[in-house]
Amino acid sequence: MQKIKLGMIGGGIGAFIGDTHRRAARISNQFELVGGVFDVDFEKAKEFADQQAISLDRTYPDIDTMIEKEKALPEAERIQVVSIVTPNFLHYPFAKQLLENGFHVVCEKPMTMSVEEAEDLKKVVEKSGLTFVLTHTYTGYPMVRQMREFIKEGKLGQIQRVDAQYYQGWVNGIMHSEDDSLGVWRFDPKVAGMSSCMGDIGVHAFNLIEYTTGKKVTKVLADLNNVVEKAKLDLDGTVMLRFDEPFLGLVRSSQMATGEENNINIAVYGSKGCLKWNQEDPNYLHFIPADQPRVVYKPGNPYNTAFAENSHTMPFGHPEGIYEAFANLYAGAAKSIRGEELQDGEFTNVDDGVRGMKFITQVVASNKDGNVWKEL
Ligand SMILES: NC(=O)c1ccc[n+]([C@@H]2O[C@H](COP(=O)([O-])OP(=O)(O)OC[C@H]3O[C@@H](n4cnc5c(N)ncnc54)[C@H](O)[C@@H]3O)[C@@H](O)[C@H]2O)c1
Repeated sequence: MQKIKLGMIGGGIGAFIGDTHRRAARISNQFELVGGVFDVDFEKAKEFADQQAISLDRTYPDIDTMIEKEKALPEAERIQVVSIVTPNFLHYPFAKQLLENGFHVVCEKPMTMSVEEAEDLKKVVEKSGLTFVLTHTYTGYPMVRQMREFIKEGKLGQIQRVDAQYYQGWVNGIMHSEDDSLGVWRFDPKVAGMSSCMGDIGVHAFNLIEYTTGKKVTKVLADLNNVVEKAKLDLDGTVMLRFDEPFLGLVRSSQMATGEENNINIAVYGSKGCLKWNQEDPNYLHFIPADQPRVVYKPGNPYNTAFAENSHTMPFGHPEGIYEAFANLYAGAAKSIRGEELQDGEFTNVDDGVRGMKFITQVVASNKDGNVWKEL
């Protein structure tokens, strides 16, 4: 079997998530990075390629050149799938162009800048018949997958309450600094989109709720806060959720929760008990049955579901983390590209992207219109 030929757009020297994608692709053991457009600055892209031992012949100045040159190569050598790890406003045009030219896509979130773009991209994916993976990273953790399976098989009984929190504090220092050079693209509406906090991290919490419960949010009511005058976008907020069924939910999200690092928590409460998971302690899934002591599930044990166990490679007691979770999404991408049978939930896709864009759009609209309910 041959490794799948991977290309990348973004992810050059100093970039954050591109490096995680490369490590995840390597851990999955299915991909070989052969080229790409690694940086907006071509000189820096070449320096990066040199560091990574990637051929300069396949280090391109822009996406048009990459597509033209790759399509001219024999099929067996050509890039098959491209990871898009650029700032948000480039996801949609790049993904569309790649799919229309026959490349599979792994794309960062938020998927697009608007619901219209998201719905158009869904049509493009469907027409192409190609693989499109949206990297909602946290769905790759074995214990998150187990939570989904437990809820699906009815372990919680009737769901009565859902609560997801995503708190970070790193923006606090930037917002209270006098140094204007700390202009990060995430706070610029033209590059990041209509929301900072909800678009960057709140959408992960929303996705985690829909992924683990299998339930769809039908309405949102949001209260957002820019916190400081100079912020052009929300940096903090609370969103109430309604579902088709008689239970309520909450997304709490902040980039100004000073002292917090990457604190994503989800709790789902049902008539038979509750399940709780925390990203900073990802190898423990807590189940608290009604009127019984807490049970803690850990990866690498035969009592887990097959899906959770297949998402963990080491024997029990050897903790795996974010890279392995990310690698599970790449492993799913590889299966899809090779036409192998997929298990439900192996990667988040264009439908999750459409849902995410509806969430972000309606949360912003709810806040703007005076904190009113908006349909998703
Ligand atoms: N899934 C997750 O958990 C997760 C985590 C972090 C970031 N992200 C997402 O990943 C994306 C990138 O975030 P980041 O923090 O890595 O950003 P970053 O600023 O660290 O890196 C962006 C990279 O894109 C490159 N780039 C910009 N314009 C380009 C162009 N026209 N052509 C080619 N390359 C270009 C830059 O040179 C840089 O290398 C964002 O959409 C963000 O929301 C997702």
